[in-house]
Amino acid sequence: MEVFQRSKSFNQRALSVVSPRSLSLGSPRVNRSSFNWRRFHVLITIGFSISFLMAIGVVYIYVLPSLTQAFHGFGISVPSGTSDEKKSFGISNSNESLEDCDIFDGSWVQEITYPLYNASECPFAERGFNCLGNGRVDKDYQEWRWKPKNCDIRLFNVNEALESLRNKRVVFVGDSMSRTQWESLICMLMTGIEDKHSVYEVNGNEITKLIRYLGVRFSSFNFTIEFFRSVFLVQHGWMPRHAPKRVRSTLKLDKLDDISNQWVDSDILIFNSGQWWVPGKLFETGCYFQTGNSLRLGMSIPNAFGVAMNTWASWVEKRIDTNRTRIFFRTFEPSHWSNHSRRSCNVTQHPVSETEGRDQSLFTDTILEVVKNMKVPVTVLQITSMSAFRRDAHVGNWSDSQLVPDCSHWCLPGVPDMWNEIVFSYLLTNHGNSLQSNQIGA
Ligand SMILES: *[C@@H]1O[C@H](CO)[C@@H](O)[C@H](O)[C@H]1NC(C)=O
Ligand SMILES: *[C@@H]1O[C@H](CO)[C@@H](O)[C@H](O)[C@H]1NC(C)=O
Ligand SMILES: *[C@@H]1O[C@H](CO)[C@@H](O)[C@H](O)[C@H]1NC(C)=O
Ligand SMILES: *[C@@H]1O[C@H](CO)[C@@H](O)[C@H](O)[C@H]1NC(C)=O
Ligand SMILES: *[C@@H]1O[C@H](CO)[C@@H](O)[C@H](O)[C@H]1NC(C)=O
Ligand SMILES: *[C@@H]1O[C@H](CO)[C@@H](O)[C@H](O)[C@H]1NC(C)=O
Ligand SMILES: *[C@@H]1O[C@H](CO)[C@@H](O)[C@H](O)[C@H]1NC(C)=O
Repeated sequence: MEVFQRSKSFNQRALSVVSPRSLSLGSPRVNRSSFNWRRFHVLITIGFSISFLMAIGVVYIYVLPSLTQAFHGFGISVPSGTSDEKKSFGISNSNESLEDCDIFDGSWVQEITYPLYNASECPFAERGFNCLGNGRVDKDYQEWRWKPKNCDIRLFNVNEALESLRNKRVVFVGDSMSRTQWESLICMLMTGIEDKHSVYEVNGNEITKLIRYLGVRFSSFNFTIEFFRSVFLVQHGWMPRHAPKRVRSTLKLDKLDDISNQWVDSDILIFNSGQWWVPGKLFETGCYFQTGNSLRLGMSIPNAFGVAMNTWASWVEKRIDTNRTRIFFRTFEPSHWSNHSRRSCNVTQHPVSETEGRDQSLFTDTILEVVKNMKVPVTVLQITSMSAFRRDAHVGNWSDSQLVPDCSHWCLPGVPDMWNEIVFSYLLTNHGNSLQSNQIGA
């Protein structure tokens, strides 16, 4: 059976439904070198966090990432899905030798041994992503595996995965999609741990949407899987002096986030960004761009994203010892809203055969270009196109706030597990030996 679905209108437009507070929380700092200011800031942050916890249901819609028409891929024709004996949906447009296998060129095939875990039994899968736990009845969406055209992704073996991370520090940096992948990885790994109490958040914190740091320690294997919330990767600060009234804060495109020091000393470092680079989360909240001491009021979001990613690249080249640290950047995660209003979506039962342009993203193109020019090895997880087929895998109505559908985030277990399997595929095989990995998608 092949599912074909075309929504009437898929070009999304950002809606101005963003709370400016949710944007400015956490990162701006009046004087970042002053210790007192830091403590004050922490207190403020805690205060805000508590009030936010109380309002979290209401706020949920506002933290959903929004997309804008401006950088949505228009009218790009996609090779239609292949359909062999197995059910499968995907792109197939080249055949290369195994050595050069592009693992992102492939299709989704049914895998009856999936899912890899039960989110209701994983203390680190947040309620909002546990679709079955929130009443989803159909389960097929959990049983798909990505099959590259010219090679295979190593099957996930939890003991091997746990062993490979022994004594290591894994760090995720990014937005809520990064947090989902972080949760997914922890849940995958916990299936191999008998004493669940030996796995714990290092500060005893609960997972919340605005928390800046979460670190889960697997004490019996002496490793931690950490998450740093940094939705733009660059620094967010209060309005500069003498700025026009509409400017309430700025993104300093030439400075990496002020918590970036804490990402350095790690073994595996996985970044993402993109979902927050939309007018609704920037200009409409009074956030504009800045480089050096200059405000860049006229700078477009795509240009600013490019500048920020180059800042990220220079930081990686300068600060990261790539002999020790393996660096990944995960590309833009497509959403599947039905129309401009982002109020409705139709989560299907099976993957779709048409990506309707969602396999393309300007953010993805920018990252590929930036990484291609880097002097150090960085592996791009080009998950944009493979995830574009997965209209079936979004949270939809089965989130913790059933009033607002969510066609941006993904159910757990689900698509983010596959992103992690691909990470292990890189770590455990010589897939993408360092020189080749910069060429992916080029
Ligand atoms: C949702 O998608 C299914 C399968 O493609 C289709 O049959 C159904 O009519 C759609 N529903 C809406 C409200 O668009
Ligand atoms: C792809 O496969 C066809 C037939 O199997 C072969 O003739 C062709 O050379 C292959 N192309 C590449 C780029 O390997
Ligand atoms: C997942 O675990 C919960 C709680 O133990 C259980 O009620 C549920 O049936 C399980 N779901 C599946 C699909 O196994
Ligand atoms: C735990 O891992 C750290 C490196 O992350 C290492 O320095 C330390 O020796 C390890 N501890 C044990 C008990 O193996
Ligand atoms: C990384 O390893 C290479 C080769 O072993 C060595 O030449 C280089 O100095 C190392 N770089 C750092 C930063 O340690
Ligand atoms: C979007 O879809 C919803 C529900 O189907 C509908 O009520 C709304 O009018 C649509 N909005 C636009 C802008 O098409
Ligand atoms: C979510 O619920 C609304 C209202 O009950 C319904 O119209 C819509 O089709 C549902 N969407 C999904 C993805 O199930």
